[in-house]
Amino acid sequence: MVASKPKVIVTRRLPDAIETRMMELFDVELNLDDVPFSQAQLRDAAARADILVPTVTDKIDKGVLAGAGDQLRLIANFGAGVDHIDVASARQRRITVTNTPGVLTEDTADLTLALMLALPRRLLEGARLLENGEWGGWAPTGLLGHRIWGKRLGIIGMGRIGQAVARRAKAFGLSIHYHNRHRLSAEIEGPLEATYWESLDQMLHRMDIISMNCPHTPATYHLLSARRLELMPPHAFLINTARGEVVDEAALIRLLKAGRIAGAGLDVYESAPHVNPELLELPHVVALPHMGSATQESRQEMGEKVLINIKTFVDGHTPPDRVLEDWS
Ligand code: 8YV
Repeated sequence: MVASKPKVIVTRRLPDAIETRMMELFDVELNLDDVPFSQAQLRDAAARADILVPTVTDKIDKGVLAGAGDQLRLIANFGAGVDHIDVASARQRRITVTNTPGVLTEDTADLTLALMLALPRRLLEGARLLENGEWGGWAPTGLLGHRIWGKRLGIIGMGRIGQAVARRAKAFGLSIHYHNRHRLSAEIEGPLEATYWESLDQMLHRMDIISMNCPHTPATYHLLSARRLELMPPHAFLINTARGEVVDEAALIRLLKAGRIAGAGLDVYESAPHVNPELLELPHVVALPHMGSATQESRQEMGEKVLINIKTFVDGHTPPDRVLEDWS
């Protein structure tokens, strides 16, 4: 338990209503400039805060935690993924970590489907033609893409977001295949008519579209390695709205250039916010700036989850979204 008005340091701008409520409840330091903290600023925040509210842009590593004062008891992450936080070190120091799962599921799944449509149907190429004044009118063979109805979708990581992607994709006529650490129950598989592949390698070379929906953990780092990417058929598309690190990006670029993979729809990158310029030059790539959960509704509800996690913790209870898994 921490003091009744704990010091909360928030590393980035959050929705107005969330910041206002935080000001009412806690002794808060906001980052009104919204410039991401340097490692030195993070170390300073960890040394002074009772509760830290970071986001995916903050690397809460061993170094930051080593300098944390004894008063730092909670890291209430604004976001579902916690791969930027050294959860094991936090646990050793008896610091609780929470996240914001569930509320961004549907929006992230929508964006995944948007990429799944944009890529085979060449939406960006079409829009660019108009923008550049290069469209000469309808042509029977103009801008031909590929139908997604009837194709096979392989989902890697069938948690909340993977399942939300599957529900949407089924409505678009795709057949659902998945690889996951554990096979899902018949109640979940049944309505989706989903096929489970214990072997990722075997699934990869039979799919038309692959969607990455697993968290980034040590076990999923470069899960799509060069070897595995080469198993994809040359007509297949890759969609990644999870984390850049789950795909070997250099190998992906090489295979896209060689025409060994038909295209990639990406919302995340290995060295974000740096994006390999080679990726942006490739014609069959739709690249977005990590906007899976970028809706007013998701960000508001993520903020509300942060508030509930902090308030519950401060009141002496276990916060609802305590991160239990040791992902480090
Ligand atoms: C968030 C995300 O916006 O929640 C996640 O894990 O990837 C994003 O959609 C971001 O992480 C905020 O910290």
